[in-house]
Amino acid sequence: MNTDDFSKAQGHWVLAKMGKRVLRPGGKELTEQLVAALNISSKDDVVEFAPGLGYTASLTLEKKPHSYIGVDADEEAVKMLNEKIKGTNVTFSLGSAAQTNLEANSKDKVYGEAMLTMHADHRKSEIIQEAHRILKKGGLYAIHELGLTEVNETKKAEIQKDLAMAIKVNARPLTQDEWKVLLEKEGFSIKKTVVNQMHLLEPKRIINDEGFFRTLKIGFNILTHPKARKRVLEMRSVFSKHQKHMNAFVLIAEKK
Ligand SMILES: C[S@@+](CC[C@H](N)C(=O)[O-])C[C@H]1O[C@@H](n2cnc3c(N)ncnc32)[C@H](O)[C@@H]1O
Repeated sequence: MNTDDFSKAQGHWVLAKMGKRVLRPGGKELTEQLVAALNISSKDDVVEFAPGLGYTASLTLEKKPHSYIGVDADEEAVKMLNEKIKGTNVTFSLGSAAQTNLEANSKDKVYGEAMLTMHADHRKSEIIQEAHRILKKGGLYAIHELGLTEVNETKKAEIQKDLAMAIKVNARPLTQDEWKVLLEKEGFSIKKTVVNQMHLLEPKRIINDEGFFRTLKIGFNILTHPKARKRVLEMRSVFSKHQKHMNAFVLIAEKK
């Protein structure tokens, strides 16, 4: 979560530092649908890839799963999560979702939000393969990621380049069909798709995701941190520029 220099930090950590807790493209609305579709019960062993600030982890833990493991690649995030969220059979560990070292065929539900988009396609496949490896047959894998719509290769490249410049992450969103193929190629069948607009930095979505008072606080933080403000405005401008071609979606897939 390195935000020592706001001009170079990854966009999601800039937003987190400003007080934003919901860092996924489809907002709280899509997350709630993801959790509902997973139908988590007290029998389930659940793994979350990239819990980040733990927003969805808290929703999942309300369902009292048999066990929960969150694997995130950011040391500071994992430390904060271990301090903030505690429970029986609840663990947050530092590591890569591409190699969790968890036992094969041992989990009932696996999910990850706003994390595959950050990776090149071969790395996306490695992470999907890992979800497949640790899931039991019939287990569910849910993703919540950034989608592209009505794009040709030129537009896609332009969006990826603009996003990389603005969020300082080599974001590689794909069309919904491409995301589906990626999952199907690794042995999943798609059970459900939910789409939403990509309104991460639109005022209405921020209020919906964060609540009125936290939104005021975020606004105040942005106003009083000029370097962060510059970054947030750049991100917002890129999101607005490509709004027509970007969306957010949840896919629920089953291990065949
Ligand atoms: C944009 S944030 C999303 C966080 C959270 N899932 C959310 O939606 O609010 C991206 C998160 O992915 C984590 N991450 C990125 N690549 C990862 C990987 N290969 N394995 C585990 N975590 C990863 C980052 O550390 C960060 O916490």
